[in-house]
Amino acid sequence: MAGTMITTIATLLAVFQAAMCNNNNASSSSHVSPDPSKFFPAVNGNLTKIVWAHAVNSVAELDKALSSEDIMMLEADVVVGKLNSSNQTDIPIMAHPPAVESDLSLENFLDLNIQSNKTKGIKLDFKSNQAFEISKPILAKLRANLTFPVFLNADILPGPVNATTTPLNAKDFLKGANETLPESILSVGWTTRYGKEFNITEGRYSTKQIQTMLDALKENKVTQPVTYPVRAGLAANDVDAIKTLLNTTSLKSATLTIWSSEGDSVDVAKLSKLITEVGVDKVYVDVPEDLKSKLNLSAASTMSPAAMMNLGVSMALLVLARML
Ligand SMILES: *[C@@H]1O[C@H](CO)[C@@H](O)[C@H](O)[C@H]1NC(C)=O
Ligand SMILES: *[C@@H]1O[C@H](CO)[C@@H](O)[C@H](O)[C@H]1NC(C)=O
Ligand SMILES: *[C@@H]1O[C@H](CO)[C@@H](O)[C@H](O)[C@H]1NC(C)=O
Ligand SMILES: *[C@@H]1O[C@H](CO)[C@@H](O)[C@H](O)[C@H]1NC(C)=O
Ligand SMILES: *[C@@H]1O[C@H](CO)[C@@H](O)[C@H](O)[C@H]1NC(C)=O
Ligand SMILES: *[C@@H]1O[C@H](CO)[C@@H](O)[C@H](O)[C@H]1NC(C)=O
Ligand SMILES: *[C@@H]1O[C@H](CO)[C@@H](O)[C@H](O)[C@H]1NC(C)=O
Ligand SMILES: *[C@@H]1O[C@H](CO)[C@@H](O)[C@H](O)[C@H]1NC(C)=O
Ligand SMILES: *[C@@H]1O[C@H](CO)[C@@H](O)[C@H](O)[C@H]1NC(C)=O
Ligand SMILES: *[C@@H]1O[C@H](CO)[C@@H](O)[C@H](O)[C@H]1NC(C)=O
Ligand SMILES: *[C@@H]1O[C@H](CO)[C@@H](O)[C@H](O)[C@H]1NC(C)=O
Repeated sequence: MAGTMITTIATLLAVFQAAMCNNNNASSSSHVSPDPSKFFPAVNGNLTKIVWAHAVNSVAELDKALSSEDIMMLEADVVVGKLNSSNQTDIPIMAHPPAVESDLSLENFLDLNIQSNKTKGIKLDFKSNQAFEISKPILAKLRANLTFPVFLNADILPGPVNATTTPLNAKDFLKGANETLPESILSVGWTTRYGKEFNITEGRYSTKQIQTMLDALKENKVTQPVTYPVRAGLAANDVDAIKTLLNTTSLKSATLTIWSSEGDSVDVAKLSKLITEVGVDKVYVDVPEDLKSKLNLSAASTMSPAAMMNLGVSMALLVLARML
């Protein structure tokens, strides 16, 4: 009896899943840039368990990250520059400003990820409009082979605290991502002026900055999955602003990606609270190891809406199974 019921539930679940998969266009495009929580089933929907390698901007760093058993996502920066000691024209290379030289080009970076066992995802942080423009043909060419999670990241708006770095052009980036790699996860954030470099230890994302981002996505009719990269020390100071950012009906699946620089002032208790309140199913944590190890994400109280929904589905299936 119990056995029959379990079989029935399993069958129903399989039918449900098949039905849901068929909603996607299964030919070619559906395997491009899959959802990380599906691609990494071991995290069981807890996105904070995803382990990041940061600034994977050289052949050595890439080798190290690809051969690591722990690393799941590779974050890397794209600038316009030259391959070491070559005399060629400017191409997209993996480097962090102010560097304009690297032993790793974007094309190489992608090829090596494609040729590895495709067990890891990537996040490309475009540092200028031109870097993105000249990367688009390469992304388009390799699109069908990018069968692992791909985040396309750029700072498209000025942010805290009175940041003066020029952001990328929001419209061009959003349009370009849509046209080049519509399956990708859009990672769009704000420039920041914070931390050791500026001696700034106080700040937050303002209501206006949050609203400007939501308006930009709306104006550009974004329908891709979105994650908002926010700097840990700044986000922790205003949980409500961050909740507003995530509380939009049109972008239901939006997530946060919390990042931090070495030496940033971060209120660990507030950051832990932010992550648990938003939900570990909605927050990627790409911060230095010493900060990550201090976070207290023990799920004391609330159940996330996603978990609640799963529970709801299970219960409904149980009832259904009994009726059959
Ligand atoms: C799926 O995508 C392919 C290639 O992009 C296209 O030719 C086909 O018409 C699409 N099918 C559906 C059902 O959308
Ligand atoms: C999520 O993962 C973190 C580790 O990143 C862990 O501390 C926490 O207990 C987990 N929470 C849930 C609800 O699984
Ligand atoms: C680099 O290329 C330019 C133009 O193609 C050429 O004039 C120059 O001699 C080259 N320099 C070296 C060191 O090869
Ligand atoms: C290539 O250039 C980068 C940046 O200038 C440097 O860090 C790296 O060591 C160089 N690699 C080689 C193989 O020359
Ligand atoms: C790919 O998988 C093979 C066999 O499991 C393993 O020997 C190899 O080291 C893996 N390569 C990478 C880059 O992870
Ligand atoms: C991309 O995938 C296609 C089909 O699987 C394959 O023929 C091609 O060699 C791949 N390209 C690269 C750069 O790996
Ligand atoms: C940012 O600008 C505001 C308004 O101009 C000013 O009051 C504040 O001191 C500035 N903060 C920093 C850290 O520069
Ligand atoms: C930051 O503060 C330290 C000591 O308080 C000072 O030496 C340094 O010049 C300051 N740096 C900047 C960028 O203001
Ligand atoms: C791309 O943009 C078009 C036009 O605005 C829109 O209809 C479509 O849903 C967008 N696709 C994605 C994946 O964002
Ligand atoms: C989310 O938005 C809805 C309406 O758009 C509002 O009623 C609700 O209070 C908001 N929740 C939070 C946590 O901001
Ligand atoms: C971690 O957070 C939980 C829930 O908020 C709390 O019960 C627990 O005491 C905290 N643990 C530490 C070590 O602070």
